[in-house]
Order: sequence, then structure tokens, then C-alpha cells
Amino acid sequence: MAGFGIFQDTIDQDVYKYYADGEWKVSSSGNSVIILNPSTRQPQYKIQACTQDEVNKAVQSAKEAQSIWAKTPLWKRAETLHKAAAILKEHKESIAGCIVKEIAKPHKDAITEVVRSADLISYCAEEGVRILGEGKMLVSDSFPGNERNKMCLVSKIPLGIVLAIPPFNYPVNLAVSKIAPALIAGNALVLKPPTQGAVAGIHMVHCFHLAGFPKGLISCITGKGSEIGDFLTMHPGVNCISFTGGDTGIAISKKAGMIPLQMELGGKDVCIVLEDADLDLAAANIVKGGFSYSGQRCTAVKLVLVMETVADVLVEKVVTLMSKLTIGAPEDDCDITAVVTESSAKFIEGLVDDARVKGATFCQEYRREGNLIWPLLVDNVRPDMRLAWEEPFGPVVPVVRITSVEEGIHHCNASNLALQGCVFTRDINKAIMISDAMETGTVQINSAPSRGPDHFPFQGLRDSGIGSQGITNSINMMTKVKTTVINLPLPSYTMG
Ligand code: G3P
Repeated sequence: MAGFGIFQDTIDQDVYKYYADGEWKVSSSGNSVIILNPSTRQPQYKIQACTQDEVNKAVQSAKEAQSIWAKTPLWKRAETLHKAAAILKEHKESIAGCIVKEIAKPHKDAITEVVRSADLISYCAEEGVRILGEGKMLVSDSFPGNERNKMCLVSKIPLGIVLAIPPFNYPVNLAVSKIAPALIAGNALVLKPPTQGAVAGIHMVHCFHLAGFPKGLISCITGKGSEIGDFLTMHPGVNCISFTGGDTGIAISKKAGMIPLQMELGGKDVCIVLEDADLDLAAANIVKGGFSYSGQRCTAVKLVLVMETVADVLVEKVVTLMSKLTIGAPEDDCDITAVVTESSAKFIEGLVDDARVKGATFCQEYRREGNLIWPLLVDNVRPDMRLAWEEPFGPVVPVVRITSVEEGIHHCNASNLALQGCVFTRDINKAIMISDAMETGTVQINSAPSRGPDHFPFQGLRDSGIGSQGITNSINMMTKVKTTVINLPLPSYTMG
């Protein structure tokens, strides 16, 4: 297909293919799924609607390829990952172009996502060689009553097949954060990309294809979650699931069975601002944290809890900074772009309407055109409003005024979501105490919540997740411990 360059094999007529057994294929279903461009709401791409039989075949070839890959030396696995990272970086413009059209991420952020992903793959290759290149040995006589005749060799072995289900908001970065750890650890990988973001995912997988991984080791199955979702997550051939997204993850964790799960779900990330805080720093982080990628980040600032005594000043500073945000097309690198789907826009509008009828203060006029929602700060939010608890995943930030830090911590810990939070104060002692009291996976002191850099641990508590991510933690959770015990003859003199 002209004009697709190295990606021409990934498309047939105007429908992108799925990937299995080392080849790009057309589904026997003859059906396709249309991807709308969030900015235009017009059809942008088409992908295959794969069948359950095609899932079975992909899992079978993954199983066969994994048995070869598990015997491939670590340095060779790392070498191939570095190749994939280089190819990804080389083609960042094409992949970013897909991200812009599929999820309306500003172009500059789409480029950053691809480069960040290549760096993650390379770091993961090196980290894997380090931590999987070493084992542990235990001897029996350190336990009371035992002679020194048993040597236990402890090593980490792959789980088998990892099913990776990344979210729409990071279709490349939160795919490779699963793929690279799985591969360096010796696993095979079945990717189920998000519908919005699938074509960016397909381009990313093609970079792994060109890097020369064994046939069948990586597959990319596209289609309707309603048709193959449960079939994939309950497939007996799948040995581990790494999922990032909304509360679908809770349903998956209930169905998945006896396999390791890495779940990173939503967040209602609070921003606690104390009287002694640097209010300019807090305001800048509330705007950056609350409105980057139009608030469609699980780590976005989703609720400001500010001490009443400094609330007016803080709100004024935030409103001033918000007035500088550009609104429009992702191609033009606008700060605020269309949210990913019409249903998402409607959900956000529902939260705004609820706050309006219950008497919250709108710091800007609420405005929406299609999926494009103008940034909105909603002040004087009370706990009886949905915005105080629900995750808009959009450019709307609620402000609750508090009279004590305990009130702020109580609100944070009362949420079913517990991914991250942040606190702004100049008193580091107070900050550490508050961090200890906040029951979230991470607390950022004097900065907005964020997942990166990608070697930092990243985890949610309660309904925000299971397990921990970050490169090292992901490699470890995609392996299991294997012990080999060498039993030597008992020494001639025994203690007994
Ligand atoms: O799922 C995590 C993602 O939504 C947030 O990542 O890097 O924007 O903090 P980041």
C-alpha cells in the first residue's frame, strides 16, 4: 500500500490487520471495527474483529514460541529489545500521527509518549539482564537442626504467556510497559490493544516484528471486547494478565482465575494544599496535573482540598493560569483537545450538571462543542456532589475547601480509589506525616501526581489496582521463583 512505508504490511485495503504467528493477517470474521477520530467524530481507521478461533491459534503459537524464547540467552533477549526500541524511535512521527488521530493527544505529547516508550524498552532490557542474571543460594544448616548437605539454588523463571491490555490514554507507553518486562523475563506476549489507540498499537507491534523476535512470540489481537474480551481474559493458555484501564479491571480480576494479575485502574487523586504552601507552585501543578491531556490520565489532579484560609488566593492563581490554556486541535499542540469519545464527554457533562444544580461555583462558563470541553474549575464543591468522588477523566477540576488537614486526609481515605495524591507545604516533617496518613499507592510532596519516571514503582490501593508496576516490579511480577535443591550425602560426622 503506497504511503505506508515500512507499515504497509499492517494494512489490507483500508483495514488494519491483526498480528499472529509472525504475520499480519485478515480475520476470517470478515468484520471490522471502526475507530472514530475524537476531534472530528468521523471514521478514521478500521481494524479487524478477530474471532475466538483466531485467539486460540495465537495463544497456541505463543506457547510454542515461548518454549524457544525461554531458552534464549538474556543478552540476546536484551539485544532484540534494544533493536525494537531503536526502530520505534526512528518511526516516532508515524506512530505519533496515529495517536493524534485516534485519541486526540497533542502532537508534542504523542511524540514524547513514543520516545518515552523506546527509552522504557531499553531500560527494561538492561534492568532484566541485571536482575534476572543473578540468583540466590541458600544452605540448609542455617536452620536449626539441619546439616550443611542441602544447597538451594533460587532463580526466576518466566510465567509463560502474558496477556497485556493497555488503556486508550497511553496506547504505546502503557503497552510497552507490559511487553518489554514480559519479553525480557522470557514470556510470550498477547496484546489486546484498546480500540481507540489500536492503530498506534499496531504500528508499535510492527517495530517489534521488524526487530526479529521469534514467530508467534508476540501477537496483537484486535476486536470487540464484547466478542473476545472474556474469552481472552479467561483463556486457559494465559498465565498472567497486566491490565490498565477503568473498573473493567475489577470484572476481569473476578473472572481471571489462579494467575498473577497486575491491575492499574482509576484514580481520584487529591491535591491537599496547606496554609504554608507555595501557592504559585501549587497553582502551577494543579493546572499541569489537572489539565494535561485534558485530564485523561489516571494520575491527573482530580480534587483540590485546600485550607479555607488560602483558598481564595489559590483559586485566583489557578484561574489566571487556566486562562492561558489553548483549546483546539491536537495537530496544533493545543493544551485542551477533544476527549476520547462522545460517551466520555456526556459522562463528564453529567458530573458538571450535578455540581451546578447542587450549587457549586463555576470559575469559568461551562462550554462544550462535540467532544471538546473547555477547561473548568469548580469551586465550593461539597461531599454530596458526584464531582467530589467520581473520576471525570476530563478537563474539570473540583475544589473542596477544608478547615483542617485531618478533614483532607479523611476525604482522601474515604474514596474507593487510591492511586496517588499530593500535598503542598513548606514543612517537610508535616508532609511526611501526611504522606503516611494518606492511604494511596503514592504520595507526591510539592508536585502533582504522575506515574513516571518509568523505573519508579507505580501502584494503586483499594479499587485502584492490584500489584505494583514500574520496570523492576513488572519484571519480577512476570516471573515466578524456581528452586533446585542439591542434596549431598550427609557428612560422615553428624551432629545428631
Ligand atoms: O495509567 C497511568 C497514566 O494514566 C498516567 O501516567 O505518566 O501521565 O502520570 P502519567
